[in-house]
Parts: sequence; C-alpha cells; structure tokens
Amino acid sequence: MRIVLVGPPGAGKGTQAHFIASHLAIPRISTGDIFRYNVANNTDLGVKAKEYMDRGDLVPDEVTVAMVRDRLAESDAKAGFLLDGFPRNLPQADTLKKILAELDQRLTVVLELVVDEDEVVRRLSGRRTCRRCQRVWHVLYEPPTVAGVCDDCGGELFQRDDDKEEVIRHRLEVYSSQTSPLIAFYADEGILVGIDATGPVEEVTARALSALQPYVH
Ligand code: AP5
Repeated sequence: MRIVLVGPPGAGKGTQAHFIASHLAIPRISTGDIFRYNVANNTDLGVKAKEYMDRGDLVPDEVTVAMVRDRLAESDAKAGFLLDGFPRNLPQADTLKKILAELDQRLTVVLELVVDEDEVVRRLSGRRTCRRCQRVWHVLYEPPTVAGVCDDCGGELFQRDDDKEEVIRHRLEVYSSQTSPLIAFYADEGILVGIDATGPVEEVTARALSALQPYVH
C-alpha cells in the first residue's frame, strides 16, 4: 500500500504513522523526521532546512523533493510506504505523482486526520519526541512511564524548537494556505478518506485501520 497521511500540525500524523506502518509492515517516511535528523547531525541538508523549520515555514521544494525521490527509490519502499508530512503543497503533490509514475506506481489512499485548532495547540505544547527512535509522547495525553525517557527504546525525550506558541501559530497558517488545498486535490482524484482524529490514541488508530481496510490487498 502507498499511503499519504495529511492533517494540520499536531493532528497526530507521527503518532498514528508509527502504529499504522507497523501494522501494515511498510516503512514510515517522515520528511520532518529526516530534516530533524539532518539538523541534529549538522549535515548540509540540515543547515539548509533549519532556518525554515525554526520559522515554521516549508523548506523549499527543490530540497524536499530531491530528498523524497532518493528515499522512495530505496528497496524497502518498493512494496509500499506511508508518507508523513509529504506532500505539503500542490507542486509537491504533482511531483510525487510523477516520481511514482516513473517507478510504475501510484498512491493507494490519502488519509486525512481531522482535528480542530484548539486541540492541535494543546497537543503541540505538551509534545515530547524521542531523540533516538522519534516516537512521539505527550506530557498529559500519552506520558511515558518515566518522565523524559522513551518507553520503547530508553532514548531521551526532547521538546521541538518549532513547538513554541508563535511558531505553532505560523505553522497553522502555512497549513491552511499551502497544505489544506491537497484535501480537494486528492478528493478529486477519488483517493481521499477522512477520519475524526480526536479521542484516545488507540481509538484513532482503530478508526484509521478500519478506514484503510478496504484498500489492503
Ligand atoms: P513535521 O515534522 O512534518 O511537522 P507537522 O506537520 O507540523 O506535524 P507535527 O509533527 O507537528 O504533528 P503530527 O501531526 O505528526 O502530530 P504528533 O503525532 O506529533 O514538519 C516540521 C517542519 O519540517 C515543517 O514545519 C517544515 O519546515 C519541514 N517540513 C517537513 N515536511 C516538509 C515538506 N514536505 N515540505 C517542506 N517542508 C517540510 O502529535 C502531536 C502531539 O499530540 C504529541 O505529543 C502526541 O503524543 C499527541 N497526540 C497525538 N494523538 C493524540 C490523541 N489522539 N489524543 C491526545 N494527544 C494526542
């Protein structure tokens, strides 16, 4: 299956991607995680991406698209993948279609996580991410057993630089102006499925898996 997850910052894409990808045994490809890895390791890509990420702006398409093209060509993505955070605007969606066509592939389904803005702000302000495995936690909604330590791998949890209130607000504006047009784009293609992404994490996962079930071959 070739899945794209779409939804505003804090909708729970990373959280759900973790469970969906492992349930379907496909790789999760998160452009945000790849950028953060490169920023942490001070690579050329990380240096280019950092100033945009810190402001809550999109990293320029030419940088992002090249990175995704390379990742999709890796052998583990041949039998399917779950894209989290890409595409992020209409030009990226067009390019993705072309990249997949070159590989003789097409998207199976786009899953939209629907959450209102107040909930998104609550979620982002309490988010903590594992430095080692990128698993996402929340200080109130999904706390790890030991504060600051990932239950899955024992890695250190940290708060993202772009989870400051003013940056969160800007990311929401960017989502509304640049990313939300993807909803109509994929609805027109007949591959959009939306689910209510509020409520406990495991209930959202169950809704997501049941929405994806008709597409599992
Ligand atoms: P990215 O990392 O993709 O960030 P985002 O889209 O803003 O999404 P988030 O990671 O903030 O939220 P999420 O939906 O994954 O929510 P999560 O599961 O963590 O991108 C970061 C930056 O990288 C961008 O701003 C841009 O600069 C750059 N970038 C990335 N992709 C790009 C692209 N394609 N083009 C250009 N630039 C790009 O959940 C949030 C919190 O809520 C967590 O604490 C979680 O525990 C909690 N939570 C989750 N579900 C629930 C629930 N059901 N109930 C209660 N709490 C919950």
